[in-house]
Amino acid sequence: MQLLTPRLLLREFQEDDWHFTHLYESNEEVMRYQTSEVRTSKESREYIQRCLEEAKDVPRTLFDLAIVLQTTSMLIGRVGMKVDYDAEEAVLWYILNKTYWNKGYTSEAAAALMRFGFEELKLHRIWADCDPRNIGSYRIMEKLGMRREAHFKENIFIKGEWCDSYIYAILDWEWRQKIVAEAAR
Ligand SMILES: CC(C)(COP(=O)(O)OP(=O)(O)OC[C@H]1O[C@@H](n2cnc3c(N)ncnc32)[C@H](O)[C@@H]1OP(=O)(O)O)[C@@H](O)C(=O)NCCC(=O)NCCS
Repeated sequence: MQLLTPRLLLREFQEDDWHFTHLYESNEEVMRYQTSEVRTSKESREYIQRCLEEAKDVPRTLFDLAIVLQTTSMLIGRVGMKVDYDAEEAVLWYILNKTYWNKGYTSEAAAALMRFGFEELKLHRIWADCDPRNIGSYRIMEKLGMRREAHFKENIFIKGEWCDSYIYAILDWEWRQKIVAEAAR
């Protein structure tokens, strides 16, 4: 599958994309709030291989897509969703090469995947979590129209410390209301 946005192409990963994913997966600042440590090139390669394997499940539950700049065809990050069809919901995530932060790229990519989730997969709810210190991450959730539903205290142990989590979510009808309001502007 692939999704087009004004500036981006979201496409399936290919095995040799690890050269580009490794650029950010080996960066400590980018990986600061991730549960995994910085990755070796072998680990970056294996991550893509696992993604490609899991994407073959029928029905497909993992939609982990490469974020590619249309202008240069540079792979700059990843936006993903794991679907639970019984609960009619999905969890959303994203990660971007630091060179490209704060240009609205991740918001643009995540909005497209969210649209796919509600329109094509007919999901009822999409949620995401992040460390409260990760302002850029929850700003994206807010720009997507998600509500902060919870602030868990020290519920996850990451990189030597207990960390808090914000939980954000949006329902299908809230998303449709947002789309209608934006179109009317
Ligand atoms: C979080 C991350 C994906 C953001 O990507 P991005 O492409 O820079 O995001 P966007 O540009 O679409 O939006 C970021 C927003 O946060 C804001 N922001 C970022 N850092 C901020 C800060 N320290 N204080 C206030 N606002 C901040 C930006 O200004 C922007 O908001 P705006 O459009 O209203 O100005 C990127 O920083 C990243 O990959 N971080 C490491 C991985 C990660 O933490 N992933 C999420 C795990 S939960």
